[in-house]
Amino acid sequence: MERKTSAMAWSPLGGGKLVAGEREMFSKASKYNASYSQLSLAWLLRHPSVIFPVTGTTKPERIIESAKALAIKLDRQDWFEMLQWATGKEVA
Ligand SMILES: NC(=O)c1ccc[n+]([C@@H]2O[C@H](COP(=O)([O-])OP(=O)(O)OC[C@H]3O[C@@H](n4cnc5c(N)ncnc54)[C@H](OP(=O)(O)O)[C@@H]3O)[C@@H](O)[C@H]2O)c1
Repeated sequence: MERKTSAMAWSPLGGGKLVAGEREMFSKASKYNASYSQLSLAWLLRHPSVIFPVTGTTKPERIIESAKALAIKLDRQDWFEMLQWATGKEVA
């Protein structure tokens, strides 16, 4: 962000590990009527540095599903809660 450049997020789902099994950080999935992978991608897409996720799925239907993350607008509170869950650090 300091250099005003965008980042590409390779392996945005941790090679699939991120979506394997329910986790606390995805308790918001039902609120947004989204899958875990869509919510993860939506979080990256909402990052202020403008991140481009590079999905690694080999399945066309998952590419279509992932693209729907573009329409999910995480509210600020949820975005920061997910950041806290991921880092384990409180955001002041
Ligand atoms: N050069 C580097 O340092 C570097 C590092 C990391 C990644 N990369 C590249 O970045 C690209 C993406 O990496 P990645 O493959 O780890 O990406 P990823 O999107 O994090 O993971 C994709 C894996 O997750 C699985 N998966 C399970 N559920 C999924 C869902 N709902 N949506 C999407 N995928 C799901 C996929 O299986 P299915 O195929 O069965 O859907 C696939 O095995 C690759 O081309 C990789 O080579 C490069």
